[in-house]
Amino acid sequence: MTIDRNTPLSLPFGKRLRNRIVVPPMASQTADGQGYVTEKTLNHYQRLAESGAGLIFVEYSYVHSSGKGEPHQLGVSEEGHLVGLKRLADLLHKSGALAGLQIVHVGGKADTRLTGEPLWGASALAVPVKGMNLETPQEITLLQIQELKRWYLEAARRVYQAGFDFVELHMAHGYGLNQWLSPLTNQRLDSYGGSLENRSRLVREIVKEIKLHLPQLLLSVRMPAQDHFPGGLEVQDMKRVALALQALGVDLFDISSGIGGWRRPEGSRGEGYLVSDAELIKQVVEVPVMGVGGIQSGAAIDQFLSQKRLDLAAVGRAILENPQQWRQNNINERSFA
Ligand SMILES: Cc1cc2nc3c(=O)[nH]c(=O)nc-3n(C[C@H](O)[C@H](O)[C@H](O)COP(=O)(O)O)c2cc1C
Repeated sequence: MTIDRNTPLSLPFGKRLRNRIVVPPMASQTADGQGYVTEKTLNHYQRLAESGAGLIFVEYSYVHSSGKGEPHQLGVSEEGHLVGLKRLADLLHKSGALAGLQIVHVGGKADTRLTGEPLWGASALAVPVKGMNLETPQEITLLQIQELKRWYLEAARRVYQAGFDFVELHMAHGYGLNQWLSPLTNQRLDSYGGSLENRSRLVREIVKEIKLHLPQLLLSVRMPAQDHFPGGLEVQDMKRVALALQALGVDLFDISSGIGGWRRPEGSRGEGYLVSDAELIKQVVEVPVMGVGGIQSGAAIDQFLSQKRLDLAAVGRAILENPQQWRQNNINERSFA
């Protein structure tokens, strides 16, 4: 059977994506100062839902106030956040899409003016960001690691209670868990640093806990296939991490970039600038793999799918610009039957 953009995809627990198009998490800066969903947030996602995508991810949302990166970032750190998040999940479902929400503690990329706390990181190493000098964080203690794990689990529980189908762990773009995986930002001397096995320990523990306590919640990881930064994570590392996470029950690999950031690398041309990275992970795992990066047209998506380079295609900015137009140009309405 030829797979194209309109081919449904079956997922565990009888869930089904009506097509292969996904809106990736994109920060909308619409929450209030305490991370609560506002009318603006609801309108923003109502608009995105008009794209006809099979799966829509809500943007990166902080698991704890110490891991907040921007003033109008969404939060999933308090019980009070649940009411607004439920409304978001409902409106996405009403459009016929499955709904996901991305969770994060931005670690050494936090804005300490917002958090009012010291900057916390895997190691006392500033996160390298092209063209910027970030503050050097304090290395968190083993006790704090246990707390961090609890925040992730509690946030995932809220995502489930709000009615989302997927929770996504943000382990890409130099945020939070990417800092734990990368040798550039994790040089701890204990069991959470050093070897790849140690650097991936926290991520594996979080995945294990979520799967144990929330078995019905689908789990996606947004991770790099490589850091795209000198001295950072390499493809052979991330293939091993992917296999370990698959064994722990991850349901979807959403492959983006690492510390080098999500933007198009200089000199690259054409649609799907990170699709070759998704393909590298797809070579080793069996669960669905999603690719991203400058994808604009249904025709390009059909080509990636038929070449078996990915299973799902994320379309960010092209949908953000005009969701309805994108739907008209690219979605076969028969897939909505
Ligand atoms: C305004 C904006 C906000 C973004 N926020 C997030 C985010 O919250 N989490 C994330 O993982 N990626 C985020 N990204 C990256 C996108 O998910 C996506 O990977 C990137 O835009 C490349 O895809 P595209 O070329 O289809 O837009 C953001 C991108 C944009 C343009």
